[in-house]
Amino acid sequence: HGTSSINDDNHLTIGGVDTVQLAREYGTPLYIYDVELIRKRARSFKKAFEEQGIKAQVAYASKAFSCLAQVQLMDEEGMSLDVVSGGELYTALSAGFPADRIHFHGNNKSYEELQYALQSEIGCFVVDNFHELRMLESLCNQLNKNTSILLRITPGIEAHTHEYILTGQEDSKFGFDLQNGQAEQAVLESLESHCLNLLGVHFHIGSQIFETTGFVLAIQKLYEYLGKWDKEFSFFPEVLNLGGGFGIRYTEEDEPLEPKEYIDAMIQEITRLSTSASVAVPEIWIEPGRSLVGDAGTTIYSIGSQKDIPSVRHYVAVDGGMSDNIRPALYQAQYEAALANRAGEKGTKKVSIAGKCCESGDMLIWDIILPETKSGDLLAVFCTGAYGYSMSNNYNRIPRPAVVFAEKGEARLVVKRESYEDLLRLDLPLKNGVFAGN
Ligand code: LLP
Repeated sequence: HGTSSINDDNHLTIGGVDTVQLAREYGTPLYIYDVELIRKRARSFKKAFEEQGIKAQVAYASKAFSCLAQVQLMDEEGMSLDVVSGGELYTALSAGFPADRIHFHGNNKSYEELQYALQSEIGCFVVDNFHELRMLESLCNQLNKNTSILLRITPGIEAHTHEYILTGQEDSKFGFDLQNGQAEQAVLESLESHCLNLLGVHFHIGSQIFETTGFVLAIQKLYEYLGKWDKEFSFFPEVLNLGGGFGIRYTEEDEPLEPKEYIDAMIQEITRLSTSASVAVPEIWIEPGRSLVGDAGTTIYSIGSQKDIPSVRHYVAVDGGMSDNIRPALYQAQYEAALANRAGEKGTKKVSIAGKCCESGDMLIWDIILPETKSGDLLAVFCTGAYGYSMSNNYNRIPRPAVVFAEKGEARLVVKRESYEDLLRLDLPLKNGVFAGN
């Protein structure tokens, strides 16, 4: 998919660049992003709103993958940005991303984080709880600032891909509950504030969602309360933020919708409910993460050792694993893969792809058909662009991989590979002169 193809050398190409050459130049494991595909996704979300004449902000959820280049790419595409920590905010501001298009999320923002974001004059805080609401209010007073906020509401609907769980009292650490009056109290407190400008409300119902039902149900639930708040205290949101969660195709079983299909369903329901309540259709914000970068990312690994257990399993080990992609170990996430250096060859053998970390659970793929592999072959694991690098870690003191952007035949290194020296950067030795490099 995307701009992936196979060249005359039988090598996998991404963005018109030979992945085998990239692996030679930058080493493995290596993340390669198809920049054109990221742009395409960003544009299709924006276009879906434009076509319906709905005012909108499409905020990239930078938790999916954040680095200076990715933030700059999102700026180039006119996106807004969702950050969830001081670190993500620092990355965004360092990349030169306009502060007024940054939205700050999180269920336990610290005093320092709120202060940093206020002083940076970000566009909006998505306030999660009373502790934050009161801290933000007092910080505004201290610093003599005003800011816009959304309230994160827990609509009591959780979407798990195909099923929707509706509970009276949703058990979630996030947001103000609708059912037990928390949300209403938060609205009232916000309206009383002189420095907080309550723009509207936010919900996020889940991730890797393949249907529109969950969004529609959450919108309906929310509107029951919006109508009441409008009548009782003349508050109706200018902005509705419907979160992210749009699914992608990791394997053939996954059947995501097009961006337009999700957006059209949301707009249709919001328009219908607004019309029947005689209120203006609010501005709509969304926060896609995975659907912008997930299938645009591919990880290239080198194959090393193999272990055959006759008539049980054939293990093929690669030079990364749960340190660069924890999703299989954490969520039993499934991936597809192919040989990057023998890309057109037919699969003949069922193998399982093991990582190199010291844990039996460090498996990237169970049971995949590949050509007979040998040490030195390059394995491309697809759809690793979201929550791959961003959840990578130094387990076993394995340095994090490098990241390359590929577009129109050009490749650009955007994150350097970590070095052994980088691994020691924060360490303070007990005795000097006992480690290499000293
Ligand atoms: N907005 C909020 C408030 C969120 O909590 C999230 C994701 C998003 C937007 C973006 O969701 P997306 O469009 O990427 O589905 N580490 C997990 C995913 C965690 C998602 C957390 N919140 C994974 O690897 O599947």
